[in-house]
Amino acid sequence: MPVLSEKSARLPESPIRKLAPLARAAEASGTRVISLNIGQPDMATPESMLEVLRTLPLKRLAYAPSEGLPECRAAWSQFFRSWDIAFAPEDVLVTAGASEAITFVLAVVAGGGGEVLVVEPCYTNYLSFAAQADVHMVPVPLRVEDAYHFGTASRIESQVTPNTKAILLCNPSNPTGTVYTEAELEAVAEVARRHDLFVICDEVYREFVFDGGQVRSFTAFSDLADRIVVVDSVSKRFNACGARIGCMATTNRQVLDVALRFCQARLSVPTAEQLMVIPMLADGRAYSEGLRGEYQARRDAVFTGLAAIPGVSPHRSEGSFYTMTRLPIDSCENFAAWILRDFSHDGETICLAPGEGFYVTEGSGVDEVRIAFMYDSVTLSRAMQVLGAAVEAYPGRRF
Ligand SMILES: Cc1ncc(COP(=O)(O)O)c(C=O)c1O
Repeated sequence: MPVLSEKSARLPESPIRKLAPLARAAEASGTRVISLNIGQPDMATPESMLEVLRTLPLKRLAYAPSEGLPECRAAWSQFFRSWDIAFAPEDVLVTAGASEAITFVLAVVAGGGGEVLVVEPCYTNYLSFAAQADVHMVPVPLRVEDAYHFGTASRIESQVTPNTKAILLCNPSNPTGTVYTEAELEAVAEVARRHDLFVICDEVYREFVFDGGQVRSFTAFSDLADRIVVVDSVSKRFNACGARIGCMATTNRQVLDVALRFCQARLSVPTAEQLMVIPMLADGRAYSEGLRGEYQARRDAVFTGLAAIPGVSPHRSEGSFYTMTRLPIDSCENFAAWILRDFSHDGETICLAPGEGFYVTEGSGVDEVRIAFMYDSVTLSRAMQVLGAAVEAYPGRRF
């Protein structure tokens, strides 16, 4: 039997999806499963986007240009302008979600063995993207006690080596809900300047900041323009994860030229979906900002529910639509499986994302879980009650 590649072994299994069979089995046995594990918005996709799909003015679905349809690139440019971010249409490459953009950018700036710094816990798929691009992710460990803030430049700088090519920063953060402070962004900028690094800015949750806060796009550091690559997406802000439309944007021509070769190799991004997203990109900031209040109410429901569980000290998410929390449990991986297999509360159970998969460092996050706010506040409050009852009943609890 031929053996699979060494690279295959490096591709992690998604911690978010691997409990799916147990969740399906629980549902088949009549237990309602509240899925707290996947960050797919439950709200309807805007009508203006669906209407484009229903009335597609096409006679033939031809390949789109590899860099994206001109009108889609122009719409992204307009979208960025609504945030005072200056990217011309030529600075934008349309990609199959932010996922493809991140994979390409990692390969362009660090592929073939370069190192990229990332705070951990981090978006779990970064590890898979890095494995595909042959990039080493070097973690900057954060602590729940600091609400997952890194604070100063020294925390990041201590991980820089001669092989470091870039810092990848997700702001607001998935999975922790952290919104980095001005001083923290300045610290990232300082390290990038000092060590000649790219900064890959994943700002797919830019709109979702709570308590009246604002996120400062990293593009505000205009002296770093040539080092900054923004990755973005329609998935979360327009409730359109299935459209698979995202982009990378930079004014660095060299990065764009090489990234375009990756785009050319995969030919193009679907034409119909590029057309579909144009109306919202061109005029959608207010729409997504309008969702903030709802996500904040959900954040509050989760925070209040977690705080009521003995042994849990939640931190209050500042943005995105996730939180990460420590539970008084020996292994959240075992706990998450146990809840689905052996536990229900008034006919309901929950599906959690165990924390370990969000860490680069092996052995970290064993007593943490990530929770996504993808139900209304009432359901989320109930889900936290189910969680509290499960913590109390679990044989491996620590109090
Ligand atoms: C931080 C972050 N970046 C990128 C992505 C990928 O998004 P897309 O659907 O655009 O590929 C996600 C999806 O959950 C995410 O949370």
